[in-house]
Amino acid sequence: MKKLVPEEILAKYGSAVPRYTSYPTAPHFSEGAGRPILETALAGLTGEDRISVYIHIPFCDRLCWFCGCHTRHTLKYSPVEAYISTLLDEIELVGQGLQAKPVLGQLHLGGGSPSMVHSADFERISQVLRKNFAFAPDSEISVEIDPSDVNEDTLEGLQKLGMTRASIGVQDFDPQVQAAINRPQTFEQTRDVVTALRELGVQSLNIDALYGLPLQTAERLDQTIDKVVSLSPDRVALFGYAHIPWIKKHQRLINDADLPDTSERFFQEREASEQLAGAGYLEIGIDHFALPDDQLAEASRTGTLRRNFQGYTTDNCKILLGLGASSIGKTDAGYVQNIVPTGQYTTCVKSGELPANRGLVLTEDDKIRAHIIERLMCDFHFSFADLDNRFGKSSSAYIDQAKKLAASNTDDLCGADEDLFYVKQAARPFTRIVASQFDAYLPQSQFRYSKAV
Ligand SMILES: C[S@@+](CC[C@H](N)C(=O)[O-])C[C@H]1O[C@@H](n2cnc3c(N)ncnc32)[C@H](O)[C@@H]1O
Ligand code: SF4
Repeated sequence: MKKLVPEEILAKYGSAVPRYTSYPTAPHFSEGAGRPILETALAGLTGEDRISVYIHIPFCDRLCWFCGCHTRHTLKYSPVEAYISTLLDEIELVGQGLQAKPVLGQLHLGGGSPSMVHSADFERISQVLRKNFAFAPDSEISVEIDPSDVNEDTLEGLQKLGMTRASIGVQDFDPQVQAAINRPQTFEQTRDVVTALRELGVQSLNIDALYGLPLQTAERLDQTIDKVVSLSPDRVALFGYAHIPWIKKHQRLINDADLPDTSERFFQEREASEQLAGAGYLEIGIDHFALPDDQLAEASRTGTLRRNFQGYTTDNCKILLGLGASSIGKTDAGYVQNIVPTGQYTTCVKSGELPANRGLVLTEDDKIRAHIIERLMCDFHFSFADLDNRFGKSSSAYIDQAKKLAASNTDDLCGADEDLFYVKQAARPFTRIVASQFDAYLPQSQFRYSKAV
């Protein structure tokens, strides 16, 4: 078998491709297209329909230099409090567009740092959500947590919200790496938060770690992963650091010379993945790991794993409703994104209008390519029979394209048999590149993405 050299593969196929948390990706949404999609979807929901809700909290009380999230640094609580009052108004506006209360199956609070929210505000969010949606008895409520935020008040608020899952940001425990990304966080502090969350009754815990950070080495990452494993999380997300200083200006505070090169990133990712596998974690998609009895592992085994804006999920709800500035939602018809700047989002909601703005109506071509790309990102293969079942005659052109790609593949990235187009086992770190071959928007895209490996 030909040895895959990351630099050669990236040079040949393009070094930067989307992470495909959606297809088409957000830069291809159009101004104004979102609101009609959302209004139609809301009006069509019945009391039987199950939906998911994502709430974005775009505030943090620290600014990590590596951060690629949509967030704003604030040491004062007043902007967060004002934002939450707008968020509650938005939920009421959504409620006014409903004919019936749909069932809320999954709620995810992300950011930024939702762990900054005070207990009284968690309670308000919970009350207004429960007024407008019927929470399923088995609803999953997950919250992204920066351990440095957590105190008694936070824990009380998370309990009032009914949190069942927590996702904790670690990144790296090495003090030198932490200094290079401006994110001090001791192991002990993290461990105490993990213990407190478990005592609260949280059933499932995820930890985020990163590779490719400044001053990171495989040895340092090895020590971080050991510490992460000692906390026994149900899931671990191992993301490659996305260095996009042309979008996130604060990343310029990171010294470029301290960043590991592509080969080193590749090596770090492989080593850390093997270490997690050795500790009993199963690889899920391109960057997640889960204990074998976790739902994500179960979904991966049964081919029911899904990918959405929060990454890998077991969520199969009818619509994903995005609330808060910049949030993205999805309906059968297409994607909807709320206004991104918090000030403009607030003005819109306060004037009594839904803040949905950008969006995209999915064409048949988009839906077929979206299905292929999602299956490749989740299962590393897609089935011709399944594509035919779903899309009938229209699927044949895509199956032909896949077979041609497999036949012309000289880099041992992919292959095809009677029923499957697949990413080869050794080429799995290049899955984004294989998926990008089915992306009709990428060739004309002006947008610069982060490194594919
Ligand atoms: C909203 S943050 C997590 C919650 C909390 N704010 C924290 O930092 O602990 C979501 C995750 O995105 C990941 N992340 C942020 N910036 C990134 C970047 N530039 N590249 C890759 N992953 C990034 C980090 O692993 C982070 O834990
Ligand atoms: S990594 Fe988390 S805490 Fe740090 S700035 Fe980003 S969202 Fe905020």
